[in-house]
Formats: sequence, C-alpha cells, structure tokens
Amino acid sequence: MIPDRYENGRIYQFNFPTLIRFGCGVWREIAPFLKEEGLSRVLLVTDPIVGELEFFHRIRDSIESTGIASVVWKDIHKNPVKSDVLRGRQAYVDGECEGIVGVGGGAALDVARAVALAVHHTRDLFDYDDLKGGERFVTEPIPPFYTVPTTAGTGSEVGRSAIISEDETHRKRILFSPRLMARRVFADPTLTYDLPPGPTAATGMDALTHNMEAFLARNFHPICDGVALEGMALIVENIRTAVEEPRNEKARALMLLGSMMGAIAFQKGLGVVHSLSHPLSTLVDMHHGLANAINLPVGMGFNRTYCTEKFDRMAQRLGLPSGEHIPDFLRSLNASIGIPPSLGDTGVPEKLIPALVDLAVQDFAHPNNPVPVSREDFERLYAQAFGMR
Ligand SMILES: [Fe+2]
Repeated sequence: MIPDRYENGRIYQFNFPTLIRFGCGVWREIAPFLKEEGLSRVLLVTDPIVGELEFFHRIRDSIESTGIASVVWKDIHKNPVKSDVLRGRQAYVDGECEGIVGVGGGAALDVARAVALAVHHTRDLFDYDDLKGGERFVTEPIPPFYTVPTTAGTGSEVGRSAIISEDETHRKRILFSPRLMARRVFADPTLTYDLPPGPTAATGMDALTHNMEAFLARNFHPICDGVALEGMALIVENIRTAVEEPRNEKARALMLLGSMMGAIAFQKGLGVVHSLSHPLSTLVDMHHGLANAINLPVGMGFNRTYCTEKFDRMAQRLGLPSGEHIPDFLRSLNASIGIPPSLGDTGVPEKLIPALVDLAVQDFAHPNNPVPVSREDFERLYAQAFGMR
C-alpha cells in the first residue's frame, strides 16, 4: 500500500501544474539537470541575503563543476521594482546566458520570472500588466526558467505571475502568462532551514492566507478547493514546529508543500486580506507575510458571516468546533509564533489609514472575495487591524 503520510528522507514528484521535485537533497539534481537541458551559461537570480548563504554557494559550485558558467543577479529589493528586473535582464544579456534559475523567496523568484519574460519581450515591462490585458503581448520565446524556493510562503515557484512594483510609486503590477511557469521546480526543505523564526512565521502565514483566501474565492474550482483545504491544514499543523525547531525536516517539508498548494490553489483568486496587505508594502515597505498575518483574522472575521458553510468546512478540517471560532483561532496562532497583534504594534501610524484605504479599493485581489468590499468596509477593517476597535 502507498503510504499517505510524509516519510522522512523520501523524494517525491508531483505534476500539478509544474513538474515538482520535492524532498531533502533535490538541490543536488539542479546541476545535472541543467546539463541535461544542454545549457552552457545560466543566470542565477537571488536576493542579497540568500546570495550570501552557504547552500547558495554549494548550488552555484555544483553548477559550475559540470562546466556550466553562471552569472549571479542578487541586487533586488524585498518588494521588487521594475529597475531590478531591467538590470537583471541586462546581466542576462551581458553574460550571454541561455537560461534562468531563481533561488529564493517570492521576491527573487518573481524577479527571475519577470527577467525570463523581459529577455525577448522588449515593450515597456508594464505593457505586459495582466490587468491591462498585457498577456496578449506575450508572444515571443521565453528562455528556460527553473525555480528553487528557500521559503515556505509565496509559492511563487509553482506560479505563473510575477508581482513587480513601479519604482516611483511602489504600486504593484502583475505580469502574468501560463508560459511563465517554471520548467521544473526543485523544492528542497533543507534550503528553508536557515530561515529565522520571524520570517518563518510571516512567510508561513502568507501561505495560510493563500489557502484560506483561495478556498473562499468566488470562482468555481473544486480542484483548487480541495488543494486549499488540505494546504491550510498542513500549514496550521506544522507552523509552530517550523518556527521553534528550524531543522525539523517533517515540519519544514510539510510547510513547503503547504505553501506550494496555496499558490496552486490561488489561481482561483485571492480576497480582502491581500487587498488590505498590498498597500502596506506599497506605503511602508512592510513584509508581505507579516501584513497578511495581522490582517488575516480581521479579513476572516469580515467574511465569516457571509459564507458560514465554507467556514464550517474549514473549521472541520482544522479541528475547530465551528467556523465562528476561526478568527480567534488565527489570533492565538499568530500570538504563538510571535506575530504582533495589530498593525499599530509594528510602528505604522494610524494617520496612514486614508491612504491605505485609497490603495486597497484599487487593489486587484478583492474582486474575488466572496463578499464585495466597499470603501467603508476597508476603513472599518483597517481600524480593526490597527487595534482601534
Ligand atoms: Fe501572498
């Protein structure tokens, strides 16, 4: 009989939607696979922190030991901007690269994906903005593109979009095309061992938010609903252990899987929580996962009364008596992993609320929320998230 639980030391392969090699040690497969792909020069896209970690050097050394030359591009912002992508593209062109390997969290993987788009697509980068119908311009070849996640959060490794901000306004834009999926994902839980407790908690809560918002999103997509329901349980069951025991293989492995499931599921859509969070990155450069963690109980409290059946299904899977308990459960989960209880506790001034509301109303995520969200709703929800009422 095939076991239905995670087994330590085992390497798994999944094909929905991207070919995912999953398990401890799959980083060793990267170099021989690139060789098999016939590449002789690659661009490694990462961020300034991961670019200094030992495992990154190990991956690069193993690639170079096969005779493949590499160029590293790591000069990117934590909420990446257009110029990060354009300079990364220049590094690709100057280095005469033939493929792109993204190694990192959501920021690095989104920049890597956007560079893959920009290599042969020479219009202004934001002409490809999905909300302006930019996908129709994605007609040229895309270089081979591979992803190696080092956080269990955004799940960008299995995604087909890149969120890149404008340099001047920090407004987020989405570049999207099914052609931007990675050719192969190397998801190795050991690469998340170096992530400190704070970012582990914040990125993990981002993954939980993806699963919950995708499950509730308006679109009809039972496949994603099933993935999301199981994904949220994996995160809830393992996030505390991952925060407290960074080298716990099983917790790290199931968190990584839960985050990929969240990103697979959110092709269905997201909701009000992401629309509350995006403006906080835009205006005060807040970490996306931290913003979602604080806004999640507030957003779920807003949605709960409108979709009781779905909340009861989530509660059942999470081992709670009923859907009514979910917002309080999320507050205590946050407290147990060191997430501040309110936006006010992170140092963001309340006087920013009107500007946050203006941006939230325009955000791309909330049209998929199960309940319409008005300007007045956003004002009330931010007041709650700031701990004002
Ligand atoms: Fe997110």
